[in-house]
Amino acid sequence: MSANKLRVAILGAGLIAPNHAAGFQEVPDLAQVVGICDINRENADNLATLFDAKIYSDYRELIADPDIDLIDVLLPHHLHYPVAMEIIATKKHLLLEKPMAVTYRQSMEIFESAKKAGIHFGVAENTRYIRAYVEAEKIIKTGKLGDITLVRTFLPANERIRLSSDDFWGKRLDQGGGALIDSGPHTFYLLKWLFGEIRELVAFTSQLYKVDSEVEDNADVRGKLACGADFLSSFTFTAEVPHSERLEVYGTTGSLIVDQLVNPPVRLYTEPVDFDGTQVEGLEYDPMGWHYFSIVEEVKDFVRTVVENRPPTVDPLDCCYVVKVIEKAYNSARNGNKLVTI
Ligand SMILES: NC(=O)c1ccc[n+]([C@@H]2O[C@H](COP(=O)([O-])OP(=O)(O)OC[C@H]3O[C@@H](n4cnc5c(N)ncnc54)[C@H](O)[C@@H]3O)[C@@H](O)[C@H]2O)c1
Repeated sequence: MSANKLRVAILGAGLIAPNHAAGFQEVPDLAQVVGICDINRENADNLATLFDAKIYSDYRELIADPDIDLIDVLLPHHLHYPVAMEIIATKKHLLLEKPMAVTYRQSMEIFESAKKAGIHFGVAENTRYIRAYVEAEKIIKTGKLGDITLVRTFLPANERIRLSSDDFWGKRLDQGGGALIDSGPHTFYLLKWLFGEIRELVAFTSQLYKVDSEVEDNADVRGKLACGADFLSSFTFTAEVPHSERLEVYGTTGSLIVDQLVNPPVRLYTEPVDFDGTQVEGLEYDPMGWHYFSIVEEVKDFVRTVVENRPPTVDPLDCCYVVKVIEKAYNSARNGNKLVTI
């Protein structure tokens, strides 16, 4: 690292890159984006308008550059593992988008290699920085909901255009699948963070768009958490609503409903006939900012992790765990919806 600022490169200048870029822009005293790499020159040029950065088309050239301290990897899922392993070998710090990799074995190999290399390694799991969930965690910890009996999550999105495009979204490649490998990391990280591990699950997947896409675009995973509660997590790429999130937590003395598309987004219910519930203070309706600000915060926090030489807020082992859960869910769905233990 240079004496003053972390020299950062963004590898992958697609859809999510501007959000990460905004995070680095908010900590100008700590980090500076000096490199941008993408095989698509137009994407790289667009992102480069924000920074005085060198453009690379070959990621190996970027990784070999001794003037880079930290690489932020925003590539298609199936490239996370090979590219992360090459970055770790150069001992550069690494921030890697979710899913950490497409298999549990690959995820653990990244984790172990990063640890051995002594680098700062983080997984960009923005769920941890969504304010509604941060408040939900506080409420759950107060015990107001009693014993948790049921947790339901829903991640709807309309990804029809991306599924039928030529990029990686609808293609199986080695990426492990569709809606589940893409949205599952957020949900299973959320469950692990708020409620602990999953004991067992059953999964169902289906595919509505079959013309250009090769992957499942709908999935349901249900089962038991180790804390004793039941859970049901649904994912769809075929819903005519913006990409959004919903969490329902039901306990023996209260319930919490969190919904990005509802105003207000977080309500607490403690009476059986109280249809209005209680609005959780300090959380405004901001469906657009919900995702954007969480990514900006995650990037800033990772920069601070490196500068302050401390462990990341999002434990990469939890991100390995969620890939294990997703792998098990695919196994269940592909084997006649078999009940699998985690
Ligand atoms: N945290 C979130 O909420 C969130 C949201 C969207 C995407 N993501 C993750 O970010 C990653 C990227 O997603 P996206 O939506 O930005 O995808 P995208 O397809 O829009 O962007 C990927 C970029 O990588 C480039 N690329 C592909 N192969 C390359 C290579 N060999 N070398 C250099 N560049 C290459 C493509 O040209 C493209 O510009 C995915 O893993 C996805 O899961 C996370």
